[in-house]
Amino acid sequence: MQEWFVRARRDLPWRRTTDPYAIWISEVMLQQTQVATVIPYWERWMKLFPTVKALARSSESAVLKAWEGLGYYSRARNIHRAARMLVRDHCGVFPHDPDAIAGLPGIGPYTAGAIRSIAFNQPAAILDGNVTRVVSRLIAFDGDAQGKPGRKLLWATAQALVDAAKEKPHPCPPELAGSCSCLNQALMELGAMICKPSAPACCLCPVSDGCAGFQHGNPERFPRPKKRASSQRVRLRSVVFARCGRIFVGRRREGIINGGLWEFPTWGSAVRLCPGPENYPGYFLTNRIKARHLITIRHSITTHAIEIGFDVALLDQSTEFAKSLPSLEGDLGVRSDIWTQCRWLRLSDAAKLPFANAHAKALRALRGLESERGAQGETDVPLPIIWS
Ligand code: ADE
Repeated sequence: MQEWFVRARRDLPWRRTTDPYAIWISEVMLQQTQVATVIPYWERWMKLFPTVKALARSSESAVLKAWEGLGYYSRARNIHRAARMLVRDHCGVFPHDPDAIAGLPGIGPYTAGAIRSIAFNQPAAILDGNVTRVVSRLIAFDGDAQGKPGRKLLWATAQALVDAAKEKPHPCPPELAGSCSCLNQALMELGAMICKPSAPACCLCPVSDGCAGFQHGNPERFPRPKKRASSQRVRLRSVVFARCGRIFVGRRREGIINGGLWEFPTWGSAVRLCPGPENYPGYFLTNRIKARHLITIRHSITTHAIEIGFDVALLDQSTEFAKSLPSLEGDLGVRSDIWTQCRWLRLSDAAKLPFANAHAKALRALRGLESERGAQGETDVPLPIIWS
């Protein structure tokens, strides 16, 4: 398996280093996110925060901005907290000690195993979704791969594989830390490229001879499919209030979904998400505020299928509603259980803040950048352009 990995692996940027910090960042980004999406984020991150110390010195806002679009922002906040702990307790040097690694926020058994094996060649097991599938097929495990006994068996099997790699090392090129690193990365790569959930390419697999699932004739049977939780639809409406070239935005409080990120005022079918009128369409009618549809964003978070319709409302100074919003500017204290601050900002200033994913997309649509993302020399777009 290791020989195959050395020969056939994809050239991914985090595979050109054994720096534990770089590997840690890649592993956390790769949780719930595809390789192709992660590559530019990882490359940008390593330029912005090349070391643990550089990351620890940075503000949380800068860290969240670098993570903007990847979702599951607790991952970024945990990395930032862990970097500060590493500077405080280990002079900014990533420790080799398994207990010290496992004690860092956001580092669970999978991430710890990946860093320890890939960076330090320690015989530490890994078991993520892809490796669960590979190992289940290798031993033809058709039990519940999510249940406690199933997980115990699969972790023990993954451990036995990496222990064997330690005992009988394969020659590895210098960019790999050694045989344990190579074995674990081979398991990941097999899961991603060959041993796919459906139609696995067993004819290309380097271990099909020893694969009990393959011998059964139907490797796709393993592991047993997960029971899917039914998804809940959530419909939300957001309004970009615009006045004198500025837009109205709020910062979500810590400890809630998307905590610390900025967003536009949002009203939902299920929950009230921001301060202000409970039912903004009613306000629009009574105050004769005209709103235009900007964009609808659909995305899924865990079991929620979320749809957010964004409207833009150009406020006329004379309406009561327009007069009431500026009084909300600043720190909100107990006036909101969702936002801690709100501001009227120029588009170019808003774009420097970390926004929740859907709201970042709406902001890009507002700036007319969606079609020309990455364009150089962006200038501020005057808001009235929206109405032309
Ligand atoms: N998925 C999780 N970890 C990975 C890695 N190091 N390379 C490619 N895909 C991965």
